[in-house]
Amino acid sequence: MVLVTPLTKLLGSVPLVQGGMQWVGVPSLAAAVSEAGALGILTALTQPSPDALREAIRETRRLTSKPFGVNITLLPTINPPDYEGYARAAIEEGVRIFETAGNAPGALIKFFKSQGCIVIHKCTTIRHAKSAEKHGVDVLSIDGFECAGHPGEEDVGGLVLLARAAQELKIPYIASGGIADARGVAGVLALGACGANMGAPGQRLVHPIHQNIKNKIVESKEQDTVHIFRTLHNTARVFKNKVSMEVVSIERKPGGAKFEDVRELVSGLRGKKGYELGDPDYGIWSASQSMGVINDIPTCQDLVGRIEREVEDIIGGLSKVVVKAKL
Ligand SMILES: Cc1cc2nc3c(=O)[nH]c(=O)nc-3n(C[C@H](O)[C@H](O)[C@H](O)COP(=O)(O)O)c2cc1C
Repeated sequence: MVLVTPLTKLLGSVPLVQGGMQWVGVPSLAAAVSEAGALGILTALTQPSPDALREAIRETRRLTSKPFGVNITLLPTINPPDYEGYARAAIEEGVRIFETAGNAPGALIKFFKSQGCIVIHKCTTIRHAKSAEKHGVDVLSIDGFECAGHPGEEDVGGLVLLARAAQELKIPYIASGGIADARGVAGVLALGACGANMGAPGQRLVHPIHQNIKNKIVESKEQDTVHIFRTLHNTARVFKNKVSMEVVSIERKPGGAKFEDVRELVSGLRGKKGYELGDPDYGIWSASQSMGVINDIPTCQDLVGRIEREVEDIIGGLSKVVVKAKL
């Protein structure tokens, strides 16, 4: 049996996407995921400049001849990065698949579509999904509350979001957030998704991430994440450690907190250093409730192969649930 969905027809891959991940979506991961038959995605803003992204794209090509995508995340910041520069660099390097995420993606989506690209837009509400649909994206990625990174401000879990997606959306969508094994993938296919997007499950597979952090992800449970930036209306699900708990306690102080009050604690470079040092308490790093489901550190090839095989078994096994009534 081979899994065929609108996503596999569009991408020529198995119905699994590795979502963009700051500091984690590097050439070695994107290439390994694509080589394994799923869609690997490079994270543009992990590279310090559009030229560095060009070099990362070339490096990924040296590692795989299979297609891969580039994620561009639009951040709520006063000094935005050179999104247009990153987008042009990726197009000029021949990338044809993009994952967009974040605030006001309309112009970026239109630009990619004008260049004949495939766009997967990731969002956390049906309202935003419908708006991206109008901008002409090819696939929506519906990110439920379980996810690592930004779950939005409405706290709706994947089950309900996907059921709403089935009711409301006209174009294909993939499910994102909390999916780490074949049961999750089979479940979201049953809910009408044409594939699954995974973030955190890829976080334990990539080379620049220190072995201590990978082990920490395996040891941790679904309770080991916490939301920061709730009071700043930019909620992020991150690993529960000393730094993230300090951020939460600053946010809870009477009168609340401004970004300035936590800036040093939440510095992206500090989070990156923690990955490199192998110190899970060093800084802030995104983490998902799916840590509860993750029990090992396989290769990408083994993980994708295992999920594919087991999804087929689970879907096949479901036919036993249907018992024909005697006439
Ligand atoms: C370490 C890490 C960094 C992430 N960084 C980004 C990012 O820069 N841009 C983005 O769109 N999503 C980012 N995400 C979210 C993932 O792409 C994906 O939507 C999410 O992880 C799905 O939920 P899951 O982790 O439960 O699989 C990140 C996730 C992780 C685990």
